[in-house]
Amino acid sequence: MHSSEIRTRFLKFFEKRGHNIIHSASLLPDNDPSVLFNTAGMQPLVPYLLGQEHTMGKKIANIQKCVRTGDLDSIGDNRHFSFFEMMGNWSLGDYFKNEAITWSYEFLTSKEEGLGLNPNLLYITCFEGDKNAPRDIESFEIWKSLGIPESRIYFLEADDNWWSPGENGPCGPCSEMFYDMTENKVGDLSKDEFINAVKTEDLIEIWNDVFMEYEKKDGEVIGKLKQKNVDTGAGVERMTAIMQNKRTAYDTDLFEEIMNQINSLSSNVNIDNLRERRIVADHVRSSVFMINDGVISSNSDRGYVLRRLLRRAVRFADQLGFKNNSLMLIAETVISKYKTFYNDIELNSKKILEEINNEEIKFRKTLHDGVKHFNVLLNENKKITGYDAFVLYTTYGFPVELIVEFLKEKGIYFNSDDIEKFNIEMKVHQKLSQTASAGMFKGGLANHNDKTIKLHTAHHLLLAGLQEIVSKDIKQRGSNITEERLRMDFICDHKLTDEEKINVEAWVNDKINRGLSVVRHEMPLSEAEKIGAQMEFGAKYPDIVSVYIVEDEKGLAISKEFCGGPHVKNTKELGQFKIQKEEAVAAGIRRIKANLI
Ligand code: SER
Repeated sequence: MHSSEIRTRFLKFFEKRGHNIIHSASLLPDNDPSVLFNTAGMQPLVPYLLGQEHTMGKKIANIQKCVRTGDLDSIGDNRHFSFFEMMGNWSLGDYFKNEAITWSYEFLTSKEEGLGLNPNLLYITCFEGDKNAPRDIESFEIWKSLGIPESRIYFLEADDNWWSPGENGPCGPCSEMFYDMTENKVGDLSKDEFINAVKTEDLIEIWNDVFMEYEKKDGEVIGKLKQKNVDTGAGVERMTAIMQNKRTAYDTDLFEEIMNQINSLSSNVNIDNLRERRIVADHVRSSVFMINDGVISSNSDRGYVLRRLLRRAVRFADQLGFKNNSLMLIAETVISKYKTFYNDIELNSKKILEEINNEEIKFRKTLHDGVKHFNVLLNENKKITGYDAFVLYTTYGFPVELIVEFLKEKGIYFNSDDIEKFNIEMKVHQKLSQTASAGMFKGGLANHNDKTIKLHTAHHLLLAGLQEIVSKDIKQRGSNITEERLRMDFICDHKLTDEEKINVEAWVNDKINRGLSVVRHEMPLSEAEKIGAQMEFGAKYPDIVSVYIVEDEKGLAISKEFCGGPHVKNTKELGQFKIQKEEAVAAGIRRIKANLI
């Protein structure tokens, strides 16, 4: 089924069930100053979810354009796109769980009106319940009544099954649908196996029904909204991949012409540069839609996001051997692909192509000189300082994230002092607005503020503590740090006992209280392996790596890990370490969430 048929069927299906169809809102939010772009279908509808009357009534369906650029590093894999379309049906204080779930099921499985997917390949999750809301037995019963066996319905916690757009606003428990992408159906799965099958992409999340009846304020759920709403979201990209039996939307009709064109422009097409080709496709597609909605390249806010995408696209296009003025050709293809559904992009095509071409010409002029200068600095000093980054940015137009990427490819990392220095230089020269500099490191370097830096060091101590107290065989499998907490997944054959948890916590706190130094070393990968530095299982590392060592009073290593940093200089900066939760995520893999208080 063609992507356009999926869109049409979706809207028709809900129109027939009493929904009014509305156009996608602009990518630029007009009622939410906290975000630069709409990042989810619900964002433009927030006032109505909170109770304001919508002129189109209480039942609405749409396809909303969205942009997410917080995770540019992941783009090029099968699932991440900086631009995507969300199909959604909305109840603004009208129907609730029963209709929402029944219609989701019918649309997915009906051959006549929907997608005709095989119901035996559907897997469902419901909310497990916590202090904010009870276990969602109601959704569970509805799914069962539709014929989904209990063995394919899983209860998951808020991390997975509670949806909110941020720290404030409407939110609620959700029920998600997953589809089996394997040739041979994976069959009944235990909860751990299910979670694992999602990780390996054998099961793909295809739709999320959110029951928005709660409200969040400053990160806390403060109670119920005036009305019970439904917010559903199904990505066009994923649905298209499923309907065309592909693992990724890049291999579907959505990207077919775009990828073909990129391949014909490249001097050398091979599997090793697939990621680069996909990045160019993704970034040009997003840029077309951003410019269409009024963004122009600049050094602040949205303009900076656009500039960053385009310059990144130019850099990869250059590596792929594209000649000058080629992004414009790709943009033309994007426009001709999408113009039937979004006819304004054809009206704005001249402006879009000009903007993209100008940015390419401008950046190409300095790209080669800039790379030369970068290499000279690197050869002379073995590093790029914050000041160098500032010069590269102001003289050659290298967005700092691009410099970070160049460095990363060479196994060298900016440390927090360099970032600080860069930011100071930038402020002095008043080049960037506050917003852009605050958001600047979100992509490549995540949120490097004090809290996350401390949690990062605590993360290293936790791994060492687990190996010391629980088992030498523990290996890290994944990690994630927000301002609120750290999260570590690790290989371990048993649930930690209360005693083990208390002892690990005490071990970490002992190292904190002793005020030990945290030192960064750069060394060849082979050397780091020789000294037994911890690496994440399955991760790939460059030839020269940076290793962080926590040293005891005698200078002996208590923890040594491959890591780009940044970290605190002394463990006494951390405060007190507290394990909040220990749980299973998959067979043989445990997860700890912990915090500093
Ligand atoms: N807001 C939910 C999501 O983006 C459902 O639309 O997944």
